[in-house]
Amino acid sequence: MATLSASILAADFAHLADQVKLVEPYAEAIHIDVMDAHFVPPITFGPVVVASLRPVTDLALHAHLMVETPESLFDELADVGLDMVSFHHEAVDDPGPVIAKARGSGLRVGVTLKLETPVEASFAYLEELDDLMLMSIRPGWAGQELNPEIYQRLETARAEVDRRGLGTAIEIDGGVKASNAKRAVDAGATVLVAASAVFGSSDPARAARELAAIARGEAA
Ligand code: DX5
Ligand code: ZN
Repeated sequence: MATLSASILAADFAHLADQVKLVEPYAEAIHIDVMDAHFVPPITFGPVVVASLRPVTDLALHAHLMVETPESLFDELADVGLDMVSFHHEAVDDPGPVIAKARGSGLRVGVTLKLETPVEASFAYLEELDDLMLMSIRPGWAGQELNPEIYQRLETARAEVDRRGLGTAIEIDGGVKASNAKRAVDAGATVLVAASAVFGSSDPARAARELAAIARGEAA
């Protein structure tokens, strides 16, 4: 069964704390998309937003770093109370030492793969990860349609994690909504990241409750 990670990328930033409170009863984590205008075209926010959210919620704060040289942010993110950091496989030469650096900063660690990167690229360091996150869209923007190649990719990741007897979380990020969430869970996802489907809704609390129920397998 899976859980919901609510991505603030589609939230109303003038009322960010209130938005997080709306989904807090239903989400297991808050997903924070850090973009640097280099690894991806847009620019968003960084440690200051993590620092602002930390006193607001006890939910796990998970930063998805879409930046070059992600390791330069680890210590600062840990200092302001981040729980888990994910960086992109494509952003570094060798993920192994970067994973070790994040762990040395006291963070739980994930790696994220773009759709173009074979899932097998993560197998060399799978044991070192708390979390493997598979993009189902092009990173950089909320509100895109999920690419259906993600289901096979989730199955590949799930099969390898199970074959090795690991407890690695498998996240899907991008285009997740009520109509495709069950298929993602059936394919092996344990965490559903959703921005637009939650904060783009007129009733974010209800949308989060419904997605979380699907994630738990309680709704069709
Ligand atoms: C995109 C981000 C996603 C985004 C998802 O680069 O990594 O986390 O917030 O947005 P939706 O759920 O709207 O596709
Ligand atoms: Zn993300």
